[in-house]
Parts: sequence; structure tokens; C-alpha cells
Amino acid sequence: KVHEIAVLVGSLRKGSFNRKLAEALVARAPDSLSFRFVEIGDLPLFDPDLDEDTPPAAWTRFRAQMADAEGVLFVTPEYNRGLPAAIKNALDVGSRPMGHSVWAGKPAAIVTGSPGGIGGFGANHQLRQSLVFLDMPAMQQPEAYIGGLWGLFDDAGRVKSEDTSAFLSKIITAFAAWVARHGRD
Ligand code: FNR
Repeated sequence: KVHEIAVLVGSLRKGSFNRKLAEALVARAPDSLSFRFVEIGDLPLFDPDLDEDTPPAAWTRFRAQMADAEGVLFVTPEYNRGLPAAIKNALDVGSRPMGHSVWAGKPAAIVTGSPGGIGGFGANHQLRQSLVFLDMPAMQQPEAYIGGLWGLFDDAGRVKSEDTSAFLSKIITAFAAWVARHGRD
């Protein structure tokens, strides 16, 4: 069985290295996973009042795409030692209306990328905090704090270091096993 995984990228900019990182992970995935990049940059800021009437079209589109997904791969930078607002907003939009969360029970992997050496550790763990409440089994190992992000890719977007390439394969292979164990049958 092939499991459909939604990929959420926490950086909205066109040249995002985290998006390249997400693409590199997807390229190394086993056949048991298929992927769809779900965009989050156009979601109006969460406001419960907007669900009282007809919710924004972008919210409806996002909720429908996420409802189809059987697992979620988060790939995100860290902003000011925390989670980019775009990701948190997507979590909040997807969690409501009450009783209609798109997240519950879906296995997740969190990969953070940063030019620095700490590899987005703060954002990685802040996201884990919300996933506990959202009832998403988040893969524990391997931990994926990818430092040195600006030097990772060549001009064609290929991963330069064989060690890093092997580590990305290890992450996504472990995630496939995680999805097989915790995902829908
Ligand atoms: C950053 N950056 C950053 N990096 C980090 O490791 N820890 C941090 O707390 C921050 N804080 C931060 C705040 C803001 C507002 C910006 C714009 C950037 C640097 C960040 O990791 C770097 O710009 C990445 O390249 C962003 O990822 P994308 O856009 O290349 O995917």
C-alpha cells in the first residue's frame, strides 16, 4: 500500500533552502510513500469568527487537502528560535472547527534546516509540543536538525555531501517505517 504524505514547508520564500531540503527528502523516499506539497502561504491568519459563516476559500482548500493525507512531513526553518508563524497558523487552521481536526492520529516527521549549527532545534521542539496536543505520533529518531543549510546544495539543487545525502535517506526511510506502523491500514 502507498501512503499519501502531505509536505508542509515552513518557509514561504521562492528560493527556500528548506523547500530544497524537502525535495531532497522526497527524492530519497521508498515507494511506499507518495507526496503532495500542500501550500500554506495563502491561509488567512486563524480567527475562529471566520468559521461562523463561510470560511475563507484557502482554509477550505487546505483542510480538504490535509484530510486526504495519511501522514505529514514538516520541513521548516527556525525564526527567532521558534516556529515560523506560517506553520503554526496552518496547525491552527487545520485543528478547527472543533471535532474536525485534520491532524489527529496522523504520523509526522519533523525536519528543521538552518544555516547555523543548532539546526533549528528550537523550532523542531516547539512544533513537537503542538503535535502532542494534536495527537500526532511524531517520529523520534533519527532527530533531524540539519545545520549548514546554505552550503548543502550545488547549483542544480543536488546534495553535495555523501554523508548528508545518506542521512537524508535514513530519515525518510525511517519515516516510511513509522508511517507503516502508525498510519491507517
Ligand atoms: C532567521 N534565521 C534563523 N536561523 C536559525 O537557525 N535560528 C533562528 O532563530 C533564526 N531566526 C531567523 C529569523 C528570521 C525572521 C529570519 C528571516 C531568519 C535564519 C534562517 O534559518 C535562514 O534565513 C534560512 O535560510 C531560512 O530558511 P529558508 O527560507 O532558506 O528555507
